Amino acid sequence: MSLFRKKPLAMVLAESGDPNVEGGHGDAGGLTRRLGALNLTMLGVGAIIGAGIFSLTGTAAAQYAGPGIVYSFVIGGVLCALAGLCYAELASMIPVAGSAYAYSYTTLGEVIAWIVGWDLVLEYAFGAVAVSNAWSSYVYSLLHKTLGIDVPESVAVFMKGPFEQIELHNGEMVSGVWNVPATFVALLAAAVVYRGIKEAAWVNNLIVVVKVAIVMIFVALGIGVIQEANLFVNEGATGFARLVPAARMVGEGADAVSRYGWGMGGVLTGAGVVFFAYIGFDAVSTTAQETKNPSRDLPIGILGSLVICTLLYIGVSVVLTGVVPYDQLNVADPIAVGIDRIVELRGWSEGAQKSFTATIKFGAIAGLTSVILVMMLGQTRIFYAIARDGLLPWFDRTHETFKTPHIATVLTGSFVALCGGLMPISLVGELVSIGTLLAFVLVCLGVPLLRKLEPDFPRPFRVPAAWVVGLSGAAACVWVMIGLPLDTWLRLLVWLAIGFAIYFGYGRKNARLAKAPIAENVEN
Ligand code: ALA
Repeated sequence: MSLFRKKPLAMVLAESGDPNVEGGHGDAGGLTRRLGALNLTMLGVGAIIGAGIFSLTGTAAAQYAGPGIVYSFVIGGVLCALAGLCYAELASMIPVAGSAYAYSYTTLGEVIAWIVGWDLVLEYAFGAVAVSNAWSSYVYSLLHKTLGIDVPESVAVFMKGPFEQIELHNGEMVSGVWNVPATFVALLAAAVVYRGIKEAAWVNNLIVVVKVAIVMIFVALGIGVIQEANLFVNEGATGFARLVPAARMVGEGADAVSRYGWGMGGVLTGAGVVFFAYIGFDAVSTTAQETKNPSRDLPIGILGSLVICTLLYIGVSVVLTGVVPYDQLNVADPIAVGIDRIVELRGWSEGAQKSFTATIKFGAIAGLTSVILVMMLGQTRIFYAIARDGLLPWFDRTHETFKTPHIATVLTGSFVALCGGLMPISLVGELVSIGTLLAFVLVCLGVPLLRKLEPDFPRPFRVPAAWVVGLSGAAACVWVMIGLPLDTWLRLLVWLAIGFAIYFGYGRKNARLAKAPIAENVEN
């Protein structure tokens, strides 16, 4: 039974040090409260806009949804809004650093909470790994394609990991050795996170301004030159359905697969792919113990950043597929391809084209940096929360001067730097999505469950129609998970098996609930 022992909500809150709750003492367990609603919204946008929109949009449009990718973004946005509402209620009610891990500890019990915490490593640490890879690709593309720098082979092989190939100036493809830029950016982000939450938020704010400006410039320049023929690709349909290419078989013989249309292989699969672009709004909840007024500011940060990004994504996807025919978008840098086309359609000079492309790529590089930063921040806070409960060693130590979980930061930074140097994005991208979706499922279920278990507990933010939102959010996430490939599921299971081994080898015995007399009272 002790596997499912639950941490009482009152105990979680007293530990959080939230000055607004009974028993809270203002000391957030060594962390300091420095963030407000604006910073939180910026952190959300900082974590959300990244490789998803700058890299994946093109392939999702080319391979699955065509201009109907805008509907994939709407579906992804609705799914995340359901999960976001649930996060907002739980984060306002239980404002602690552990996010979904901590919510699960009070609702579903210790072993499930551990699994959620372990699963969040997939979202945050591997999310940072995936994005550091995209960062490196954009750096190389800026140097090599846009600035025309002839990077010699001896240097180029250190810009990709050993399982990937890189194109040299003469068009030759060679295998990489170590992805040094990915390692570099991970260490850089870790250094900022180590220094302090305020510094991390400051760097993030600066980057968010740059990347939102880039995205808005792209939409503003492109909207006037959208070509109807690019958008309305399905003549057999009417109204807005004309954006979705008719479903058809692609490929030869046994390899032929059904593509396009609204269902699997089309808009819905596109939604699963672009889901990655929304990941990150929940990172806001991990800063709960560093937020001045968590019960008010967390919902604003979570939902505000989600709404801003959804609107930007809709704008970008319409403009992108409106200026470039969707079958030409199967590229790693679709936004750069889009801006080239916009400049051409506007009849501007080659010089203008070069400067716009360079600016967009620079903006993408900056934008990806903040995703890595906030993902790293989120991971360190999750580890911190887990270690405070005794399920992991060391990670809860905080730096005397900087008041940050420095041990967790050093270990997370080293892990992301190592994996970023070696692992290709293709290996980790979908793993990040499945891990995040699993956490979303449990958060969505947590809301109705807590309404039943703790009906009278104060909820500064209440989800409207909690049962409908919670259950439909969970069902939608499970549905997207089912659409992910089998090998992603297998990797998830291997990861969870490692997690179980750690829990039974260490966490179960060392849990604070196992030692505290209160454990007897809360076992169910
Ligand atoms: N949403 C983040 C990105 O797209 C993970 O990079």
